[in-house]
Amino acid sequence: MGRQSVHIETFGCQMNVADTERAATRLRADGFDLSDSADSADVILLNTCSIREKAEQKVFQRVSEIKTERVGRQPLIGVMGCVAQLEGEAIFKTSPSVRLVIGTGATDRVTDLLGRALGGERRVLDISERKASEAYEISRVERHSDHIAFVPIIEGCNKFCTYCIVPFSRGRERSRVASDIIEEVKRLREEGFKEVQLIGQNVNSYRPKVENGLERFEGATPFSKLLRAVASTKIPRVKFTTSFPRDFHADIVKAIDEHENLCNWVHLPVQAGNDRILRAMRRGHKVKDYLGKIASIKSARRRIALTSDIIVGFPGETSAEFEDTLKLIRECQFHGLYIFKYSERRRTPAAKLPDTVSEDEKTFRFLALEDLQMSLQREVFQSYIGEAVEVLVEGYSARSRDDLTGHTTCNKVLNFRADPDLIGRIVKVKVREAKTHSLYGEILGGDCV
Ligand code: SAH
Ligand code: SF4
Ligand code: F3S
Repeated sequence: MGRQSVHIETFGCQMNVADTERAATRLRADGFDLSDSADSADVILLNTCSIREKAEQKVFQRVSEIKTERVGRQPLIGVMGCVAQLEGEAIFKTSPSVRLVIGTGATDRVTDLLGRALGGERRVLDISERKASEAYEISRVERHSDHIAFVPIIEGCNKFCTYCIVPFSRGRERSRVASDIIEEVKRLREEGFKEVQLIGQNVNSYRPKVENGLERFEGATPFSKLLRAVASTKIPRVKFTTSFPRDFHADIVKAIDEHENLCNWVHLPVQAGNDRILRAMRRGHKVKDYLGKIASIKSARRRIALTSDIIVGFPGETSAEFEDTLKLIRECQFHGLYIFKYSERRRTPAAKLPDTVSEDEKTFRFLALEDLQMSLQREVFQSYIGEAVEVLVEGYSARSRDDLTGHTTCNKVLNFRADPDLIGRIVKVKVREAKTHSLYGEILGGDCV
């Protein structure tokens, strides 16, 4: 048997992207080829998400698609990630062609598990926990971008919001030791990465078991200490996501004020604009608390872009309660908003509540909210016209080969015409035009870093 090739498809959040990078690192180190093509690979691994029902269904649709599309020899199909962790054995029944199920804690054991399946074991399953001794390792070639690296700092969630499956699919919060994170960021900087994104279900709940790496840094919380520590590596840009409102300390804003390389963008999901619904969601914050947090963000020295998530149609949400969400959105002036229709997840406490909001009503609320956000966002985006912003040039624009694209420090997509030699560099661009979801600008020249 020659070298086997593996193709990994990733669904879901950045944590899954990071896990794919981790699995690919292991597989290549252990003698597998990684392939971009689902048409020819010997093995296809689907790294899955179960945040909403639709996300979960995608996996099973994809499995049957692979089976029908493939001409000739069928690949060995494996399921990794959140659906694997939650459904375990049941996946073999739902999709009999799946031969391998690798839970969220088993990413590092992917080679052994795959080896067993390739060796003839009919069904291989591992949904046990990640071992503390497993080193976090991603090789440069497996990173999703040549310029931006995801660096997980905390995995799992202890919050148990009543609608959410993540505490079940990712387990309890586990924070990486700061000294390991800092070493990784230093290495990334030496390798030429321009930006790191510290990622976690709730980054600001970061609480490592030991202080290592944080001793020299000030901060009201371990997370704000970590921000200062990561900033001190002099990596050009640091972003972080997602922040949990209840744990959002004003010292985070102070750290951003102190360090130019901590980017001026905060993603702070509010979920709803009504206190009864927030309580039923068990978010741990009221509307007033949230407004207090964003007041501190808006008082920063730099203009910090604020983005958020909303769930419409939570069980029992009345029209009047939904109106409160519209009101909050008007007040907050978010630079971006992800809107989701409530999706019932088995095992979560909210699944026991009667789902009183019809699908049509959810769609109506979704569209009303989207409409409002679009009109507010237009104004926010237009206010950037004439401003010079810093952008990390990530590649060619999807629309036109003549334009380059990248993200600003405030995490907006910005397109502009310039020499492709600039890809991978940070440049200054003057904003000339505002579109609904992006900005268009004119290069001012010069590498900023
Ligand atoms: N930890 C982050 C969110 C992670 S999940 C936080 O607490 O803010 C990403 C988003 O998916 C959530 O913010 C929420 O808006 C949405 N989401 C989670 N569960 C959902 C469900 N059952 N139905 C609809 N949207 C959901
Ligand atoms: Fe889910 Fe709430 Fe945890 Fe976010 S904080 S991952 S919404 S349980
Ligand atoms: Fe989805 Fe799991 Fe992330 S459910 S959003 S892939 S943590």
